[in-house]
Amino acid sequence: MRLVIMGPPGAGKGTQAAMIAEKYFVPHVSTGDIFRKNLKEGTPLGLKAKEYMNKGLLVPDEIVVEIVRDRLVEGDCKKGFLLDGFPRTVAQASALDEVLQKMDMKLDHVLNIDVRKETLIERAVGRRVCTVCGATYHVKYNCPSRVGICDVCDGKLIQREDDREETVVKRIEVYLEQTQPLIKYYSDKGLLADIDGQKEIEEVWEQITGVLGRDNK
Ligand code: AP5
Repeated sequence: MRLVIMGPPGAGKGTQAAMIAEKYFVPHVSTGDIFRKNLKEGTPLGLKAKEYMNKGLLVPDEIVVEIVRDRLVEGDCKKGFLLDGFPRTVAQASALDEVLQKMDMKLDHVLNIDVRKETLIERAVGRRVCTVCGATYHVKYNCPSRVGICDVCDGKLIQREDDREETVVKRIEVYLEQTQPLIKYYSDKGLLADIDGQKEIEEVWEQITGVLGRDNK
């Protein structure tokens, strides 16, 4: 299964993507996670990406496309993949089309998670992430069993730097301007499945399994 999950910042893409990867046995390829990992390791890519991420801006297309191109040729992507946070511009989407065409592959579905602006801000600002394994929580909607500590690995939970309210507002503006046009792009290709992300995590998951099939593939 070859999938894209899209939606505005804080919509719940990463939360649902982790569940999809587990149920359907596809690697979860998140460009945001790749940048954060590089930043943590202090690589030149991470330091470059930070300049954009902390301002709520997109990392330039040519950098992102190269990363995804390299990732998709890895062995674990042969049977399928889930792209989370990519593509984010029409230029990235057409670059992805070219890459897949060369690999003789096609996307099966593009899941578009739709959530209201006020909810996006509340979700992003209240998000906490594990500094060790990257698991995601929310102070109100998805609490860890111990405050500030990851259930999975006992790591420390922190707020992402780009989850400050003013940066989240900027990220939403950037989404509306640069990423929202992809809804039409993929709808015209007959690939788009709209998901009501306003609902609770389990109800969003029900809609997604309704699109992808209840059985593992
Ligand atoms: P990225 O990491 O991709 O961030 P994003 O798209 O802004 O998405 P988020 O991670 O903020 O949110 P999400 O939708 O995954 O929500 P989550 O599941 O965590 O990108 C970060 C930055 O990297 C970008 O700004 C850009 O600079 C750069 N970048 C990345 N890709 C790029 C690209 N292709 N091109 C250029 N630049 C790129 O959920 C949010 C919170 O809500 C959590 O606390 C969660 O527990 C909670 N929650 C989730 N679902 C629900 C629900 N249904 N009900 C209640 N709470 C919920």
